[in-house]
Formats: sequence, structure tokens, C-alpha cells
Amino acid sequence: MNELPRPVVRPRRLRTTAALRRAVSETSVEPRQLVLPGFVREGASEPRPIGSMPGVVQHSRDSLRAAAAEAAGLGLGGIMLFGVPGTKDATGSGGIDPDGILNVAIRDVVAEVGDALPVMADLCLDEFTDHGHCGVLTPSGAVDNDATLDLYGQMAVAQAEAGVHLVGPSGMMDGQVAAIRSALDGAGHLDTAILAYGTKYASAFYGPFREAVDSSLQGDRRTYQQDPANAREGVRESLLDVEQGADLVMVKPALAYLDVIRQVRDAVPVPVAAYNISGEYAMVEAAAANGWIDRQAAILETLLSIRRAGADVVLTYWAAEAARWLRA
Ligand code: PBG
Repeated sequence: MNELPRPVVRPRRLRTTAALRRAVSETSVEPRQLVLPGFVREGASEPRPIGSMPGVVQHSRDSLRAAAAEAAGLGLGGIMLFGVPGTKDATGSGGIDPDGILNVAIRDVVAEVGDALPVMADLCLDEFTDHGHCGVLTPSGAVDNDATLDLYGQMAVAQAEAGVHLVGPSGMMDGQVAAIRSALDGAGHLDTAILAYGTKYASAFYGPFREAVDSSLQGDRRTYQQDPANAREGVRESLLDVEQGADLVMVKPALAYLDVIRQVRDAVPVPVAAYNISGEYAMVEAAAANGWIDRQAAILETLLSIRRAGADVVLTYWAAEAARWLRA
């Protein structure tokens, strides 16, 4: 008796037409999942290009409002604001001052978009300190964790009074989410949410961001940001933030940490964001400018990979442009 030939298993069958590929696709990128970071420079009357991030600018107050209105029109998931102050000091007081550039920009943007776009703000001192660290320093020059918590609480309240929907603590001080939650609650801001940069690594890929915010940092942030070797510790950090009341947690950077995004997604019950950071942006832009890769395809594949790793929300400098492609 002849045996029947064993059929060749053909996964390619599901790839034969574009419509069929679309029907069985496992992951999508949608405008609502993308958050646009925006830099605003105190005293600027025109937007100023950032050399290492072609296509990204330090906004004037007016151009930031216009960018926020466009983001709302595109149905983005939010705008994340960063301030570039005219003067800096040892304690980063410009971040807490209600008339500081970041708090002024929050008011501007909220006046522009209302509740049509979630408005988020970086909650960290590094843009406002003359030494460039994310917290205040002890006399010997170490970053003082607990003294910094008090300032983060004040900064959170200032951002909430300006109308922000979500504060984004990114300084990696221990206990920062609990301190911020209790400061917000104590001032009656029960509905202001916390998007915690829970899992954040000391990364070389932040390089272009330091130009974007005119950072004065000497040295590195390795006593507070995490060691790139540690994934388990990354999960622990986000779990601690959830325990302290984080409403969303973030993994940052994204591309060199896709495994960490997956592990955090599987470990926490809250939405997970990932930050497709400045160096990841600059690499694609530089290669595309040289004609070495297909820019649009590389950007969409990048965003898809971060979603596939498990991010519910992606912060990306391409948010508006990608949303236009996705809606077309
Ligand atoms: C800290 C902060 C940084 C970024 C976002 N928030 C820089 C750092 O930790 O050194 C980096 C974002 C990017 O590189 O795109 N306020």
C-alpha cells in the first residue's frame, strides 16, 4: 500500500494578497497610540531647528500651540511637553515657578486643545538645573534622592494647576511616584494622572535630546538611571511604580529594550508606554538622508516593532507624520 504524500505546510498561503495579509495581521499602529514630544524654548519668537534631530524643533509658544492643535486634529494619544528655560539654577526652580516656561506652555496648550488631546509634561529637574542632573545635589555632589522628592511634589502641583492631564516623572528617584501622588492628592488634584517613566536606562541614545534641551550635564546619570544589562530590575522598577500609584508605566529607550517592554507588559496591569527616543530617531533620519534605507518603511517598521513588543502607547518624534500616513 502506498502512503499518501505528506503535504507541504504552506504558511505562504496567507501572504498571497495584500488584502489577506492585512486580514491576518497581528499588530497595528494607530494614531491614538502615538504621543508627540514637544520642546518649547523660553523667549523664542521662531521655532529653532535641532541639528541632531532633523525635522524636530525647539518651539516658540505660538508654534507649540499650532503643533498641539495639529496633534489633536490627527487624533494622537497625547503631547508630552519639555521646557527649555532661559536661565537655570542649582535647584531647578524654573520647573516649579508657575511662570516658568514649562508651566506657561502647559497653560497655552490646554487653552488650545482643552480635553481633545491628553496633555502630558516631563516632570524632572534636569532641564532646569545648571548642573544638568535630575535632582538636587548634596555638598559632595551626589544626587540627593529624598530632597529631590520634595521638589518633584511641588513641580507636580504646579503642573496640575496649569491644567496638565498627566505628569511624567522621569528622574528615577526612589519613591518619586508615591511622593508625587501624595502631593497631588494633598492639593486636591485627584484626577491628575501619573505616567511614570518606571523603567529607564542610562542610555547613550539620549545624546540628541541633550542638544534639544540645551543640557548642561557633565558626566552621566548612572547612579539613578538603570544599568542596560538589567531586565529583571527593569520589571521591579515598574512594579514598584504601580504599587505607588502610577496610572501608566513607561519603558525607555525602546529599540534596544524591546525584551524589557515585553516583560513589563506581561508583569503589570496598567497600560505600558515606550519612548522611541532621540537617538533612535536620529539613526533612522541619518541613514535615510544618506539614501541607505527607505525612510517611511523604516519608521513604520520601527513603530510596529515597539507595539509588537507590547507597548500600548508609543512616544515618538514621528507621531504626527506617521499619523498622516496611517490615515491616508
Ligand atoms: C529627562 C529626560 C530625558 C529624556 C526624556 N526625559 C533625558 C535623560 O534622561 O537624560 C530623553 C528623551 C530622548 O532622548 O528622546 N528629563
